[in-house]
Amino acid sequence: MNELIKKLEEQQNLKSDEMKWLLENNTPELRQEISLRARAVAEQTYGKDVYTRGLIEFTNYCKNDCYYCGIRKSNAQAHRYRLSQTEIMACCKTGHELGFRTFVLQGGEDPAFKDDQMVEIVRGIRKEYPDCAITLSIGEKSRESYQAFFEAGANRYLLRHETATEEHYRKLHPRALSLRNRKRCLKDLKEIGYQVGTGFMVGSPHQTVENIIADLCFIKELNPEMIGIGPFIPHQQTPYQDARPGTLEETLLIISILRLMLPKALIPATTALGTIDPEGRELGILAGANVVMPNLSPVEVRKDYALYDNKICTGDEAAECRVCLSRRMESIGYEIVNNRGDHPNKKS
Ligand code: 5AD
Ligand code: FES
Repeated sequence: MNELIKKLEEQQNLKSDEMKWLLENNTPELRQEISLRARAVAEQTYGKDVYTRGLIEFTNYCKNDCYYCGIRKSNAQAHRYRLSQTEIMACCKTGHELGFRTFVLQGGEDPAFKDDQMVEIVRGIRKEYPDCAITLSIGEKSRESYQAFFEAGANRYLLRHETATEEHYRKLHPRALSLRNRKRCLKDLKEIGYQVGTGFMVGSPHQTVENIIADLCFIKELNPEMIGIGPFIPHQQTPYQDARPGTLEETLLIISILRLMLPKALIPATTALGTIDPEGRELGILAGANVVMPNLSPVEVRKDYALYDNKICTGDEAAECRVCLSRRMESIGYEIVNNRGDHPNKKS
């Protein structure tokens, strides 16, 4: 076996130059070997179970202007929508009947959803579905806001750091956003007691190998419960419309590396991965991921939650993503399970 893969598995880390070698020698043989080890490590904790989360994209309004994102505020062509609390509850009801025990409320940073309203929405779900985990993915907020949502019953929070390198961060975001504040948010979320997810896009514009190494280091140090990794995919109505997309191969390698670095982490095979390759999510699981996040948003709005082009699961045929994913996972010998799917060290 490749010595570095062996060392990475044993020590759950590598020196920068060793990591660099892995990232720069991403051959099919290397991926075959590392994905086999990553899968074995995932299996030690999770067996052949794949956890599932029902994703509810409840608003695509956003006050931010990230250069890579299709719902940035400067995209005047985006057709904007918001779901009402009643509509959100209806998504949860459908989801609960389908077997989901985690709901992810994801949205742009939409000022129309004030803290009080978010608290009410979270409380509503918490009351109706006491057996479910509630995950929020609504961006940068104050510590007080995070605390209020937590007390209302939210358990988990997804906030990708996007890049751990200042200079790169500034190439992806306008000045109003800072890596410093992003890190402050992640720290607050952890301290409050959330299960925290972070992550980054593979192949984002201007990303270098050094940037990726910094990202891996940052994630190792933060030690999040969840890690979201997907390829960058250009969106036609953004400044990065002509940038090259991230590749399937690099995304899979990085998923495997992260599985070996954080053996118990919850790592989704993302929708973006399924978008750049029809078998992307299956390959993600086979590279060491252990979570899938089917879309539970009403079919009418799905096409409008477009962070990138050609997103899958946005047509009429996608009403039953859960069934589709169950079949897909079965096809590779894995099984979607109906439980909350908490991190093994953190069942709150
Ligand atoms: N391609 C891939 N992923 C994207 N995201 C935003 N825009 C894109 C894009 N063009 C990711 C970001 C964000 C998450 C919700 O979606 O990493 O954190
Ligand atoms: Fe949505 Fe397959 S997961 S249609």
